[in-house]
Amino acid sequence: MASAAFNSPAILFLNTWDGPERDYMGTVLSRLYQQGYKRLIDPCAAAYTMATVAVEAGWPAEAIRASDVFLFPSVLGSVFAGQPLEALGITLDGIPMELTGDPCEQAAQIMYWQLRCRMEAKPDRNYWGEMVQDLVGRQDAHLSMMESQVRRLYAKLHGLEFQPRNLWASVEEAIDDPEAVIVINPPTYKGAYEKFFDTDGRMSWTAPTYDVWDSDVDIYRVADQLQGRKALLLIQQQQLPGAAAKSPVFARMMSHGDRTYICTNRPEEVLPLTNGFCVVPLTELPLTKLDVPVIPPDHLVTADSTVSVMALSHAEASYYRDLWMHKLDYKQTGYYVAVVIDGFLAGIGGYDTSTIVRPYQNKWLDALLLTFGVSPAHPQRLNRLMTHLMCSRPIIRSMMLPHVNAVVKRLITVEFTRYPESKGMRGLMKLESRTSDPKYGYKLVYVTDVKEVSTKDCVKTWLAKEAHWAKGRVVDAS
Ligand SMILES: C[S@@+](CC[C@H](N)C(=O)[O-])C[C@H]1O[C@@H](n2cnc3c(N)ncnc32)[C@H](O)[C@@H]1O
Repeated sequence: MASAAFNSPAILFLNTWDGPERDYMGTVLSRLYQQGYKRLIDPCAAAYTMATVAVEAGWPAEAIRASDVFLFPSVLGSVFAGQPLEALGITLDGIPMELTGDPCEQAAQIMYWQLRCRMEAKPDRNYWGEMVQDLVGRQDAHLSMMESQVRRLYAKLHGLEFQPRNLWASVEEAIDDPEAVIVINPPTYKGAYEKFFDTDGRMSWTAPTYDVWDSDVDIYRVADQLQGRKALLLIQQQQLPGAAAKSPVFARMMSHGDRTYICTNRPEEVLPLTNGFCVVPLTELPLTKLDVPVIPPDHLVTADSTVSVMALSHAEASYYRDLWMHKLDYKQTGYYVAVVIDGFLAGIGGYDTSTIVRPYQNKWLDALLLTFGVSPAHPQRLNRLMTHLMCSRPIIRSMMLPHVNAVVKRLITVEFTRYPESKGMRGLMKLESRTSDPKYGYKLVYVTDVKEVSTKDCVKTWLAKEAHWAKGRVVDAS
């Protein structure tokens, strides 16, 4: 059974405030405190990672002024600041929430119900059903786990100041304070938190009014506002290479196409603290070769070929992907599959279940994401066979957990390309949408139903289509 812990707020961080950023900020904040800064303004407090880093770097909790606009950070902030949780005016199904025990226990009760309402608000599917079942069946275990997490943070952070409020108000208040450092780790995706915390109206509280954060605009705006002002700004930004706001002092390659930057309004003050720019290159994974020979060009796939699949690790998939794909800008995917034909490796592919398990669009709840399919050079078009096979039920069934397999009815794939159509998808999947993309030109979404056929029939269909295609080429050429 899937554990409800999967939906923990760790998802809020999307890898943008990871070890390297925490280490960097730990060093910088420790030195800034030693140099006489007295107040740390944290207007996007979320799960208090930044505040924890600051305390571990020597800042007293009392020097931290945290704020946020969502219930989860406001519950934690109120507990750390010693403010009664009743002041947040929380209601559950229209009734003021009854809270028992000390503030850490009360915080756990609110978080538990928020998580449960969020899960109960999801579509009626096995996956979510199991989450809810787990939350209901093991309510006490969840409550005590949440309580111990709150206590762990409380031990470090009690004494900080907290207010639920819009980021701009916190920035405005501190902008000309020469003893203030404003540290901001804002949302990366516009509107994502609103969707993440949706309880379908079952939980409400006296939330502050705020502006939905749009990183593409607002990071540049806040950086501009702080230029020449007395407070020191450190703001995290996830952007394309070279597109950071002014002035980056830290950059980490998250993938070949993504960077996490930390920008400041006073690089001349921050750079000496770390002996210059800090650049964290991409950690290259160790690549692993399989003990299966790659299909040789003179071995042809026929209707009598035997097809089997095996699950691959990320390291194994990366080896062949680098070998056959030559496209560097890719992200990790959830499941990797190798297709073995007649004992030879004939292709690898990737699936991602995020459309189903973390659905930000209800439209694709029954669609598995096909992230890539790639084959070695071969006289037959094995790439197309890979797509056929990856869209077939036997392969999906052997790769997915039963409750995910039961949900999957369609597959989608997204291509970023400079062409308005993908030749490789012709006859395999249908073009669902075409939108313009600032980096590549087009974003194409292709979709198909799962093929309820055996792998043998899949190979036969592919062979027939290929024969038809080859005939067309002969006629064209004559
Ligand atoms: C990436 S998280 C911040 C992580 C946090 N600094 C930490 O160290 O744990 C972004 C936070 O910004 C908050 N947020 C979103 N819009 C906001 C706004 N207009 N004003 C203040 N906070 C906002 C979200 O609630 C979320 O908690």
